[in-house]
Amino acid sequence: MVSSSLSLLAGLVAVASAKVCVNFTQPVTISSRNAVFDNFAVPLTPTDPATLALNLTRQGQNATANALTGYATISGTYNMSVQYCTPNGQKGNAVQVLTHGIGFDKTYWDLAYHNYNYSYVDYALSQGYDTFSYDRLGIGNSSHGEPRNEIQSFLEVQALAALTRQLRNGTTTGLNGNGYSKVVHIGHSFGSAQTYALVNLYPELSDAAILTGFSMNASFVGLFAAGNDFQQANLNQPFRLGNASLGMQVEEVLNYANASMNKDVLRKFHLSDLFQQPIPTTSKPLNYPSGYVINRDVNALIYLFLFPKFFDLGIAYYGESGKQPVTPGELLTLGSLTMTNNYKGPVLVFTGDHDLPYCGGDCVATGTSSPSIPAAVSKNFPNASSFEAYIQPNTGHGLTFHYNATAGYKVMNDWIKSHGVSA
Ligand SMILES: *[C@@H]1O[C@H](CO)[C@@H](O)[C@H](O)[C@H]1NC(C)=O
Ligand SMILES: *[C@@H]1O[C@H](CO)[C@@H](O)[C@H](O)[C@H]1NC(C)=O
Ligand SMILES: *[C@@H]1O[C@H](CO)[C@@H](O)[C@H](O)[C@H]1NC(C)=O
Ligand SMILES: *[C@@H]1O[C@H](CO)[C@@H](O)[C@H](O)[C@H]1NC(C)=O
Ligand SMILES: *[C@@H]1O[C@H](CO)[C@@H](O)[C@H](O)[C@H]1NC(C)=O
Ligand SMILES: *[C@@H]1O[C@H](CO)[C@@H](O)[C@H](O)[C@H]1NC(C)=O
Ligand SMILES: *[C@@H]1O[C@H](CO)[C@@H](O)[C@H](O)[C@H]1NC(C)=O
Ligand SMILES: *[C@@H]1O[C@H](CO)[C@@H](O)[C@H](O)[C@H]1NC(C)=O
Ligand SMILES: *[C@@H]1O[C@H](CO)[C@@H](O)[C@H](O)[C@H]1NC(C)=O
Ligand SMILES: *[C@@H]1O[C@H](CO)[C@@H](O)[C@H](O)[C@H]1NC(C)=O
Ligand SMILES: *[C@@H]1O[C@H](CO)[C@@H](O)[C@H](O)[C@H]1NC(C)=O
Repeated sequence: MVSSSLSLLAGLVAVASAKVCVNFTQPVTISSRNAVFDNFAVPLTPTDPATLALNLTRQGQNATANALTGYATISGTYNMSVQYCTPNGQKGNAVQVLTHGIGFDKTYWDLAYHNYNYSYVDYALSQGYDTFSYDRLGIGNSSHGEPRNEIQSFLEVQALAALTRQLRNGTTTGLNGNGYSKVVHIGHSFGSAQTYALVNLYPELSDAAILTGFSMNASFVGLFAAGNDFQQANLNQPFRLGNASLGMQVEEVLNYANASMNKDVLRKFHLSDLFQQPIPTTSKPLNYPSGYVINRDVNALIYLFLFPKFFDLGIAYYGESGKQPVTPGELLTLGSLTMTNNYKGPVLVFTGDHDLPYCGGDCVATGTSSPSIPAAVSKNFPNASSFEAYIQPNTGHGLTFHYNATAGYKVMNDWIKSHGVSA
């Protein structure tokens, strides 16, 4: 009866690690001191995104300083779209709060591709942690907003802080007052920049921080700004990101593109882009306003996020079919980080060795005695209880899309366990 007891055991193991997730909308009431970028036009036409990229990449210029006319307080109640998961439907002691970067939404951490084989969420659950991933303010199913002076890093960090306080005091939907005593913050790219800002402003909110796809070296952000070949999001995939409906005829869709402006649009409007989106059947189009910009196509996505030969081409197309935009307000504030961080907890910077935006495609080419570009982040955290930089081999900027992603998740979760946050 060895085989039946083995299969019973297998059944118990499967039950013990069952993934139980709920999706919900969590309101946050927040306020922040935002930048006013009135010296700078919201890119509204199909060709304005090229002007934006030129503005962001001109040598010797600081586009943020050029655009800035002052500061203003922005306040509001916003809806945040959340996916909350536990290993077996029972809340544990520790939750990992996952903040995605530019180009993606919360599904970056839980890619459905190949039956969730690449899912970070699945791995964290298998280690006993709960996960809380969300669409950043302005993106996906979270509230959208005005793309220049409203949806900026400053306001998004306040949203992350509010979500964290709710998790701690138990006011998150479904927690019924039973809050978490341990919260780990994990970001990717712009999500890491926001995590960095969070733990600087509110060090007490975080028990450990992992910054993936990150460094503090701003030398290469221009490659990112140019490499996107930015397009208007609502024209690039009008069915999913605009408001074109399934019932629309092809001619109407072309008119939709044309409606925004002039004849240039039809020349600029590539049919290949149009058909590289899933045609929504039931879900509502995201209906982004003009001014939200997005990477042109799958080649841009590969350039920005992936390291050739170490990913499945199918997952690149999968990412392209679910891609998400960025606002000019975000692009102008993503580098607005204090050089000295007040955080006192443990910090892991985890970056692919071929990361483009934060390492220029080679994290160990430092030209100095520093072992890597991410290792230099240690000087930004003078008071961290511990600091480690881990360089993940054969990996570009988007860890979760690479064949070897799960081995990276193990490094991250082993680090969490060995730094005082057990599941
Ligand atoms: C929750 O949302 C994700 C996308 O973020 C989707 O793939 C999943 O099916 C949803 N789950 C439920 C239970 O609705
Ligand atoms: C580009 O910069 C110029 C000069 O600062 C500004 O007037 C213009 O509004 C900017 N346009 C975009 C789309 O960034
Ligand atoms: C660019 O200007 C902004 C706003 O003045 C400032 O916060 C930032 O530090 C500047 N960046 C650099 C690299 O000088
Ligand atoms: C948030 O969502 C609720 C319904 O789920 C809706 O009634 C409300 O208007 C939304 N609020 C915002 C700020 O979008
Ligand atoms: C899942 O990933 C592992 C390696 O991590 C690989 O061996 C396996 O073939 C993958 N399965 C699927 C269905 O993609
Ligand atoms: C919990 O935290 C949220 C976000 O800061 C706050 O709005 C709410 O008042 C707090 N509730 C309690 C009971 O502390
Ligand atoms: C957003 O909501 C739609 C339903 O309106 C759903 O189909 C989709 O999976 C959601 N996406 C995310 C990332 O939550
Ligand atoms: C659809 O989107 C376009 C481009 O943003 C906008 O001009 C138009 O008003 C939108 N229509 C509806 C019904 O929302
Ligand atoms: C680091 O800690 C020292 C001693 O508590 C304190 O004086 C200093 O202000 C802290 N620095 C930062 C950046 O938090
Ligand atoms: C950024 O990295 C490059 C390449 O290693 C190096 O030459 C440059 O000095 C670094 N910049 C900063 C501010 O550390
Ligand atoms: C996969 O990642 C692990 C953890 O970083 C590393 O030890 C291993 O060398 C990687 N394998 C490949 C083939 O890159």
